[in-house]
Amino acid sequence: MQKIIDAISAAAIRVKKLIEFGDTGYSEHINKTGDTQLKLDIASDLIIEEEFKKISSIKSIISEEKDEIKLLHVDGKYIVGYDPLDGSSLIDVNLAVGSIFGIYENGTEGSNIVGAVYVVYGPRTEMVVAKEDARLYRLNESGEFKEVKTIKLNQKGKLNATGATQKGWPTYHKKLIEEIFADGYRLRYSGGMVPDLHQILLKGGGLFSYPSTSDAPKGKLRLVFEVFPFAFVFEKAGGVAIDGKKRLLELKPSHIHDTSPCFFGSNEEIERVLNEYSKH
Ligand code: F6P
Ligand code: MG
Repeated sequence: MQKIIDAISAAAIRVKKLIEFGDTGYSEHINKTGDTQLKLDIASDLIIEEEFKKISSIKSIISEEKDEIKLLHVDGKYIVGYDPLDGSSLIDVNLAVGSIFGIYENGTEGSNIVGAVYVVYGPRTEMVVAKEDARLYRLNESGEFKEVKTIKLNQKGKLNATGATQKGWPTYHKKLIEEIFADGYRLRYSGGMVPDLHQILLKGGGLFSYPSTSDAPKGKLRLVFEVFPFAFVFEKAGGVAIDGKKRLLELKPSHIHDTSPCFFGSNEEIERVLNEYSKH
């Protein structure tokens, strides 16, 4: 698996340059989830694919920007699901974005995930690698990712990141979020899953929620390349990740672009979600 992590590091350095200097315009393509692809989405997907082609242990790749699963090496052991440039529409307002990777064996159900990596392209470029634990790395001046620390969530945090449009929220979700704010939590939400979850992980905890909504009952975030990788990172950092009732890593996607409502956080906040959601 280390070779895959090295390939991700190499790709991340190339994607970072692309973000800084590449063309931020739209392409003519619409991806499987209905987003019009930016030229940067397509270019970063190609960079990552190029780096993964060099790694013989990767059997196949599933990208948010590709309609179908792509076979790389028949004898490979791992399937890598990735979102090459999450939050890419934030680039034109110069906010942080990221790349997310889930490393799977024998399938792409939540229980098949064996490792997860994400990269944050912000004022600094950072990478979090989750295997037995979750570790933070930072890109240095020599172009190497150096380990900074192991990430550990507290039992309870102070941040509340709430996704989707409020007019589509179920009433019980609205009640839960209002109660959390009433208890003194601060709103932190940029609209980029990677920096928003990274902030919760590094500030010790809190809650990130992307609920079911009236127009999207299964939420928006994709299981294979967004939700499962972050669920794995949160669990390895001592946190919890659920769909409202159930552990996210117990879910089985019905297709590669399947989505789910999701809640990531430290123990106390997730306990509050479970209490409220179990009544409905
Ligand atoms: O990939 C989808 C995404 O851009 C995530 O990065 C982010 O968490 C989410 O959409 C934001 O969605 P919304 O604007 O509906 O809260
Ligand atoms: Mg995304």
